[in-house]
Amino acid sequence: MIDNNKYPEINISEKLFDIAKGLIPSQTQTLAKGVTQYVQGVAPIFAQSGKGALISDVDGNEYIDYTMGVGPLILGYSYKAVDDAIIEQLKSGITFSLPHKLEVEVAQLIKQVIPNTENVRFSKSGADATSAAVRLARAYTGKKKILCCGYHGWHDWYISVTDRNNGIPKEIENLTFTFDYNNFESVLESIDDDTAAIILEPVTFDKPKDDFLLKLRNICTEKNIVLIFDEMWTGFRIAVGGAQEFFGIKADMALFSKACANGMPISIITGKSEIMNLLEKDVFFYSTFGGEALSLAATKATINEIIDLDVINYIDYIGAKIKSGYNQIANDFGMNYTFAKGYNFRSMVVFDANSHSLMLKSILQQELLRYGILWSGFHNISFAHTAKQVEYTLDAYAACLKIVDEAYRSGSPEKYLKGKPIEPVFRKTSNFNTKPKEK
Ligand SMILES: Cc1ncc(COP(=O)(O)O)c(C=O)c1O
Repeated sequence: MIDNNKYPEINISEKLFDIAKGLIPSQTQTLAKGVTQYVQGVAPIFAQSGKGALISDVDGNEYIDYTMGVGPLILGYSYKAVDDAIIEQLKSGITFSLPHKLEVEVAQLIKQVIPNTENVRFSKSGADATSAAVRLARAYTGKKKILCCGYHGWHDWYISVTDRNNGIPKEIENLTFTFDYNNFESVLESIDDDTAAIILEPVTFDKPKDDFLLKLRNICTEKNIVLIFDEMWTGFRIAVGGAQEFFGIKADMALFSKACANGMPISIITGKSEIMNLLEKDVFFYSTFGGEALSLAATKATINEIIDLDVINYIDYIGAKIKSGYNQIANDFGMNYTFAKGYNFRSMVVFDANSHSLMLKSILQQELLRYGILWSGFHNISFAHTAKQVEYTLDAYAACLKIVDEAYRSGSPEKYLKGKPIEPVFRKTSNFNTKPKEK
């Protein structure tokens, strides 16, 4: 256990940040990695390197990482088998003037491991995949409206339903509506004759209740609505075959990214051929880097490692330790306003302390930095996290939660924060853009 009690020196990070201000709007390409998600003035801002479950910042500080690139690093940083596959492919080329044979090989592998896959296409980002699926659903059904639940990427069709929707025409906003997870009534209320697709993460942190997923499956079949599983997080984590395998529910399309390639940029669209066949001609979905071979080589190596080394079970075991360990500490301290919830592969620490919640989360993040732990509220477990690192983290949680509780009890937790608190990503996230009731 590091016991020097010091916050990290972040001089080089801050210098780079000064350059980035005025040059790179919001100073990040991924909101979840940006300064608003960390305590500014205390937390590191720029990364230098990573190895296993450890990340080093530009000032040379090393941290156990519980964000893991916001999802992709399922095996850990600099994972040899994947890096070797990338290097091997690099020797013969990255992007070609013809489709590469890896496109066929990886598509075959995906068909083997992801249930209900008849066709496969590749692209680069999660938003590419969700937007292609939405377009396909509209083309297939001849209908326009989309019902969604959760985050699905930056494109117009989705961001229109958030409060950061400047630049998106109102007409687009009127085509996408949200429903509440596990609230089948809210789905029924939103469906109309023009509903083309229901897209959702099959699960985030709350388990499905009362056959929610089955009910969605049935209503979609009944009303000719395309059921799309956004498996950016569940894919290659909840089970090798994702949520369709885990819950035994068949989606019409299932979309993957993040964990597919241990950090290389790729997304995968899978589904029924009667829908995906439309990509043969009438539905346009192509991009220059869609068949880029380093990412395909990384995908093949990553999926093979996940299968061969039973990564899913390992992540479940490590994730259970940290989640239950957190809850035990909070419980022992009588801190009934905080707990960790979710599946073992990815749990989330919640503060339920009204207006203080984000402040308390910020204080916990700040204090964990003194123990060399980079944390933004989640346990994104990788194959590289060891039981020893988890035990160390739980000791650090015990030390830091004492301070958080003291801050909470003081009634003025802001006095304990040495920088700027973490900011919410969206100002409003529930009951947003639900479908207006018919008059
Ligand atoms: C569930 C889900 N869908 C879609 C996306 C968008 O993926 P990308 O950022 O790769 O476009 C994300 C990104 O975090 C996600 O978590």
